[in-house]
Amino acid sequence: MTSDAVRAALAHVVDPEIRRPITELDMVRAVTVDGSRATVDLRLTIIGCPAAETIERDIRAAVLTVPGIDELDLVVGVMTVPEREALVARLRGTRTTQFGPDTLTKIYAVTSGKGGVGKSTLTANLAVALAATGLKVGLIDADVFGFSIPGILGIVGEKPTKVGDLMMPPVAHGVSVISIGMFVDGSTAVSWRGPLLHRTIQQFLTDVWFGDLDVLLLDLPPGTGDVAISIGQLLPHAEVLVVTTPQPAAADVAERSGLVARQTGQTVIGVIENMTGELFGSGGGDAVAARLDVPVLARIPLSVGLREGGDTGTPVVFADPSDPAAVAILSLAATLAARTRDLAGRKLPISPR
Ligand SMILES: Nc1ncnc2c1ncn2[C@@H]1O[C@H](COP(=O)(O)OP(=O)(O)OP(=O)(O)O)[C@@H](O)[C@H]1O
Ligand SMILES: [Mg+2]
Repeated sequence: MTSDAVRAALAHVVDPEIRRPITELDMVRAVTVDGSRATVDLRLTIIGCPAAETIERDIRAAVLTVPGIDELDLVVGVMTVPEREALVARLRGTRTTQFGPDTLTKIYAVTSGKGGVGKSTLTANLAVALAATGLKVGLIDADVFGFSIPGILGIVGEKPTKVGDLMMPPVAHGVSVISIGMFVDGSTAVSWRGPLLHRTIQQFLTDVWFGDLDVLLLDLPPGTGDVAISIGQLLPHAEVLVVTTPQPAAADVAERSGLVARQTGQTVIGVIENMTGELFGSGGGDAVAARLDVPVLARIPLSVGLREGGDTGTPVVFADPSDPAAVAILSLAATLAARTRDLAGRKLPISPR
């Protein structure tokens, strides 16, 4: 009876990388109860699993809430190869359509014509802000040559965990993140051509286990090159956010990136004007929005906090939510979360979680 209660408590412990309850992942081999002492036999997916500490802490907290239990013996082992293969096969099986046309994940690609307009900074902060609303959020750094997301999110040097032939992405501020920066050492310049770029993006979408995401964000490189075209082909159902600065001259190139996205069938849903203020002139956001016939979804002011947060790896929406740029990004996240939740609501009858 009590061991059932312990199992029920363990069902609330979620593997932070795989994002599923440990009981569903067959990570709990046995539960026994002797008086007020529970013994839990846990098997981790791999040796040296970086999430082990979190899992053990959460197990301890969960089990000790069970009435009548006041001691826990946690025996930690590792899955055998066949056990791990079975798990990988099951995970693969459950996510065949994860990012396909039938996906229930909202996919937002963040693009711009010009470089340096703040795409990566905004995308990273937007991801953290969306995760803070309780949504499950993934972020793909699709800027293969100029990857910057690991730095902005403070996870330089972190690598995905391999479980069988799947990769579990590192998690930063609640966001599952994958970037080519996790596969090359800091000084290596990535100079691949189209086909290899395409394959890399494809692998990010198929071999990285994001779990059931509510939202997937993609940070694109500037311009309308190979990566933008690959994303367009691989994710024609993605929705596009176009980032521009306020200068009227920036509007032309920003409009072009929106038009290219449309050619692949993607829907442009709005414009984000960044670095809004007197310094850079005005009207750029409105001009792009008018030409693409979409709304300006947010205007993000120039902010020292936003820039410094990117330099130090502590996103401003997390470090200083009252910063004016953070306020604008959090409000954009609320807008996007509202349109995502509509879908998430419909998802419930299909896959209860
Ligand atoms: N609203 C803002 N206020 C102040 N600084 C900002 C703002 N937005 C972005 N920045 C800064 O501008 C620089 C460029 O930003 P970021 O790298 O995000 O641009 P990007 O569009 O992703 O660039 P690239 O095209 O090279 O990928 C960074 O130093 C960033 O901190
Ligand atoms: Mg960038």
